[in-house]
Amino acid sequence: MAEDPRVRLCFVCLGNICRSPTAAAVMEHRLREAGLAGRVAIESAGTGSWHVGEPPDRRAAAEARRRGIPMRNEARQFRPADFDRFDLVLAMDSENAGELERIAPSREARQKIRLLRSFGAGATGDLAVPDPYFGGEDGFASVFDIIDDACLGLLEDLRRGPLAAP
Ligand code: 4NP
Repeated sequence: MAEDPRVRLCFVCLGNICRSPTAAAVMEHRLREAGLAGRVAIESAGTGSWHVGEPPDRRAAAEARRRGIPMRNEARQFRPADFDRFDLVLAMDSENAGELERIAPSREARQKIRLLRSFGAGATGDLAVPDPYFGGEDGFASVFDIIDDACLGLLEDLRRGPLAAP
């Protein structure tokens, strides 16, 4: 079978119920808007296993719905073998990135790990997408804005790189 010619992205947080499914839905939406959805394959996963099989957190789903972005996901855990299936593995914070580095089976795998927020406009200082799980509803709106900004930056980066017109 021919190799998947699409750029393959996996967004990773801790539980795969708040931040990473939001990022996957936002990136899908931004790519669709740009007419590039068919060129990128998107998944999400968590470093932890507590929520495996669950749908997105209702607060994250409500925020996405408010922004007109449908979000569907069944939480899963990121496994070492998953590194082979992706070109970029986009961690939400340094704890997620550290865990991914710990389980990465090779140098090549480790090199696929990035902090999503490093693609955000003027990214400096704290590059974490903060964990909204234990906070209030407000946290979900600001996390959504941070994710959207970073996804727009990631889209531009892909356009200059792997998605550049031949
Ligand atoms: P996420 O949020 O990593 O953005 O999906 C969390 C979900 C669950 C927990 C922590 C963060 N938890 O501790 O169960």
